[in-house]
Order: sequence, then structure tokens, then C-alpha cells
Amino acid sequence: MRYLSLSRAARLAGITRAELQTRIRRGDVATFEGSVAVNDLLRLYPSISLRDDDALERVERIKADAQPKLPTGETALPDPQVLLSRLHGLSQTVASQMSDIESLKRLLDQIGERIDTMAGARESEVSGLAREASAWLRDARDRLAAEAATSAHSQLYARDTFLRIMAANVKLIPSGHDFFVEGNETILDASVRAGLKLSYGCSSGNCGNCKARLMSGETWKMRDHDYVISEREKAMGYILTCSHTAVTDLVLEAAEALSVEDLPRQEIRASLRKMERLSPDLVMLNVQTPRTQTLRFMAGQRARLTLEDGTAQELPIASCPCNGRHLWFLVRRGDDAFSQAVFQHLRQGQMVGVEGPRGDFVLREDSPEPAVFVAFGDGIAPIKSLIEHAISIDLIESFQLYWTTSYPEGHHQGRWCRALKDALDNFSFTPLLSNETADVLDVMRADFSEAQPMRFYIAGPENDVEPLRAALLGIGIEPNRIAIEHTAS
Ligand code: FES
Repeated sequence: MRYLSLSRAARLAGITRAELQTRIRRGDVATFEGSVAVNDLLRLYPSISLRDDDALERVERIKADAQPKLPTGETALPDPQVLLSRLHGLSQTVASQMSDIESLKRLLDQIGERIDTMAGARESEVSGLAREASAWLRDARDRLAAEAATSAHSQLYARDTFLRIMAANVKLIPSGHDFFVEGNETILDASVRAGLKLSYGCSSGNCGNCKARLMSGETWKMRDHDYVISEREKAMGYILTCSHTAVTDLVLEAAEALSVEDLPRQEIRASLRKMERLSPDLVMLNVQTPRTQTLRFMAGQRARLTLEDGTAQELPIASCPCNGRHLWFLVRRGDDAFSQAVFQHLRQGQMVGVEGPRGDFVLREDSPEPAVFVAFGDGIAPIKSLIEHAISIDLIESFQLYWTTSYPEGHHQGRWCRALKDALDNFSFTPLLSNETADVLDVMRADFSEAQPMRFYIAGPENDVEPLRAALLGIGIEPNRIAIEHTAS
């Protein structure tokens, strides 16, 4: 029986990992050590699209970077498109041969059973049994020949083989998290893109913080690094994830930040890359860190920004940790010195000090239960970070976002919300124009079943957030299911 990891099975079936986990929880399919059987996957999704369109589309993105060069600059390999077509053809051949071998093994078993029957039969019965066996064998061979070309198993294997060539799966222990390494990515870059929090520091082979132990599989060193791994550590399988990529599927023993306490406090000299004016009184700052010093944080956390004139403010980070180099912050015009400086003096390219991360308004990643996000006004900033992270880790069953503002133009991230709603089957967005607790609660209660356990993430000014928390507690929601973030009013 052939098994596939959940990530791989979901990818082959063209569904999210969260959807597959929901089917597993419902008992629709069994798992064995975190894997599902190919037969069960095909039974569950008989109409799996076995075409490779989406794989090829993804590969298009990767192939531009994936072309090794000779030292002279000449191309060492055929054109990527040719190479991909050949790989595709080879994976079809391998899969078809594997399928044939499996069928022949079954046939051999059946032939063995028939010979055993003949060996135990009376002499007078043997020739009749032999004739019968001969006819059966002819039919079996015809059936196998007809099945070989169209077998769903064979096509699924072919697709799996092709995807294995294009992306290696990395499983982390002890957490059990896994992710795919694609194209020319380092293991570290791929883990960050997947929303995981492997330990790292410089991202460039100097500090050794990303050291991890290879338990199985093969890696390839993409660049030399200054940090020295001792011979003893090398013999034990230690590598730097910021300097290696995965050649085959890997199992890696690696330190991960599992709570906010596991993240170090960081101070980074960053710069203002962009300032988007969302309204006369609201801007979105894009602060870029140096390439070798990304901010490690958890979605929903805050950072303290310090401008060149010394004014400072602690703000929620409005972006996903999957891109720790590009940090986004919402700043509303107010009477305070920081916002005055932002609106009057801050210019592209100026230095911005980033210190953090702070706060514990983070996603419960150990729970796939549906998540309800409620943002009051600019409380959308940490909520946006949480939602982007939740999407990148692909573990939450469904998301509902309620965003309430007191005026129609207040939904300044409306396009982002609608784009997510269009792209994701498990995401819903409800814009509201009332901050009244009773109004918000009424709309929410019409949408969700109180019988189903949910997690609530609420962000906004204290005088909006706290009454909603009290109201949720009042209808029986357990306190540990509600996470709160107070933002400026
Ligand atoms: S992160 Fe510093 S050596 Fe890899």
C-alpha cells in the first residue's frame, strides 16, 4: 500500500491541507502516521484532476531561476521547457512501470494460489484445473493491458513523481510541521514562506543560529558559509538551513519558535521603502529591513518604530511573517509627535529603527477550528497579519472576517478582503458600518453555529473590543477562545 504525506496528498488532490484534515476528522479517511493511502485518496476524490496544468503553471514561475550555468556562463542543461517536458515524460514512464510491477506482483500471487490448488488436487482433476488456469491467465493479461494505460493509480503516481522532482517535502521534528522547498530556495527561505518559525539569525551563513540536524534525505550546499560546523557536528548530520536546499524529501530536527517567548528581542536599522496614502489622515508604511536581518515575529505582534528625529511609536505589524523583510504599518494622523513626524517629515529612504517583536495576539496554530476575526477600524492591521499567516500555514478550516468602521470609506483594505474572498472557498468577509456591540454580535450570530467550537480574534480600540468580548462571554464562549488586541482609537 502506498502512502502520501498530508501536504502531498492535498497538493495532488488540488485541495487545501485544512480541507483534507477536516475530512480526516470527520472519519471520511484514515491516516497512518500522518499519511493517507493512495487508494483512500482516490476513493475520496475520484474526480481528482490528474492533469498537470497547475503543477506546470507553478513550475513556470520557478524555472527562470532554476537553470544551472557553467562557469563560463553557458547553459549546462537543455532549455528549461524541454527539460520539463522530458521530466514529465519520464515520470509518466516510471509511474506506468511501477503500476505494471504492482499488477504483476498481484498476478504472481494469484498464480501461486492456483498452483497450490493444483498441487493438492487429484491427478484426474489437474488437467481440467490447468485448462481453467490457462483461460484465466489469458483474461487477466488482457485486463491488465487494458487497465495499464488508464489506471488512476498510474496517473496519480506520474503526477506525484513529477511533483517530487519539482518540490521536495521537508518534515520537521519534533513538531511534525512540513513544507515544500521549490526551485532555488534555501530550506530556511521555504520554511519562512510556509509561515513556520525555524530558528535563524543572519540568513547568510554567519551566525549558526539556523543549524539543524538532517535525519534523512539529501541536501545540497548552495553557497559557502563563514560559520564553521565542526567535523563532529558534520558527522552527526548538522547543516545550515540558510545555505542548503533540499535535493530529496527530508526529515530535519530543528529548533522552532512555538510561542512568543521563544523569539529573541531584535533591533534592526531599517529604512522606509514606501509610504502609501490611504486617505488624507491615514498612511501605510512599508519598512524594509536589510537583506541579512529580517525581523522574526509572529503574526499579530507589534514592533516599536523610531524615526530619525527620535520620535517613536509601538504599532501592530500589518503584514505576514512569511516576508520579514517587508514590514507594513498603519499610521493615522493624530496629535502625537510620531504621527506628526510621519505626516510632515518622513520621506522614502529615511532610516527607521525597528525594535521587537512585542505582544501575544497570535494565532492558535495547534487548533484547526474555524477562526472568526473582528476588526474595529484600524484594528484591521494585526488582523490582516493573522489572516495572511493563517493562509500561508493552511491549517485553519475556515475564516470569517467582520470589519466594522463608522464611515463607508473606512474599509481601506476592502480590495484585499474581496480578493481573498474571491480566491478562497473557506474565507468570508462582512463589512459593517456600526461599532455597536449589539449590531456586530447580531450579524455574527446569524452566520455561525454556536454548537461548533470557534476561535475569536478581536482587534480595535479598547472601548469597542471589550464590550464585544463581554457579549461573547455572555453567550457562553469560553474565555480561552477569545484573543484580544487593543489598538489606538
Ligand atoms: S541564519 Fe545565520 S548562519 Fe544561517
